Amino acid sequence: MRIFLDTANIEQIRQGVKWGIVSGVTTNPTLVAQEGVKDYQFVVQEICSIVDGPVSAEVVVEGVENMLSQARSIAEWHPNVAVKIPATPDGLEVTSKLARDGIKVNMTLCFSANQALLAALAGAAFVSPFVGRLDDIGQDGMALVKSIMDIYGEYGFETEVIAASIRHPLHCVAAAQAGADIATVPFKVLEQMIKHPLTETGNARFLADWHRVSRQG
Ligand code: G3P
Repeated sequence: MRIFLDTANIEQIRQGVKWGIVSGVTTNPTLVAQEGVKDYQFVVQEICSIVDGPVSAEVVVEGVENMLSQARSIAEWHPNVAVKIPATPDGLEVTSKLARDGIKVNMTLCFSANQALLAALAGAAFVSPFVGRLDDIGQDGMALVKSIMDIYGEYGFETEVIAASIRHPLHCVAAAQAGADIATVPFKVLEQMIKHPLTETGNARFLADWHRVSRQG
């Protein structure tokens, strides 16, 4: 399973890339607003200059023609851009048309296996089941990821599954166990994935013991 960062924060992306394990980035209008970014194109192009992999940027208009036109212009920002399109009836039409033109679509706000099936049939490059938001309403978000993996495996769909709306490290473990192609994680979760108190105390002890012995020598 690959790891994407789910953020529009440039410093977080730089840090994740330095660690060598971030192979893409997903953004959405909320994440961009949280950073106070006014120029979406500028920030996405900056992200693309840092990460060598897919970078998702979302359409923020409604209606087929508006979405199509905005998606086409977003796709021109950088060859690595995947355009996020919501899993709605209009979004399906837009996705089919964009896919026919070779534009990578990340079908987002996916909350059911049927939406994911249609995303694959429409030719989306990625589908993003929102695990945490399903958990929030008492449904099993990771069960959705498993169902999608089963269906895609059955028919050999090439659409990649991005476990999204990841809230904590156990979501990452479960997404990997479910066979998700990618988990897109907030930076805080990425830090939680590597940090372990026993590693920290163990490392401090090893260093202290080593220094004590080398002082004696
Ligand atoms: O990748 C989708 C993500 O940004 C949504 O996360 O925590 O707002 O449900 P959340």
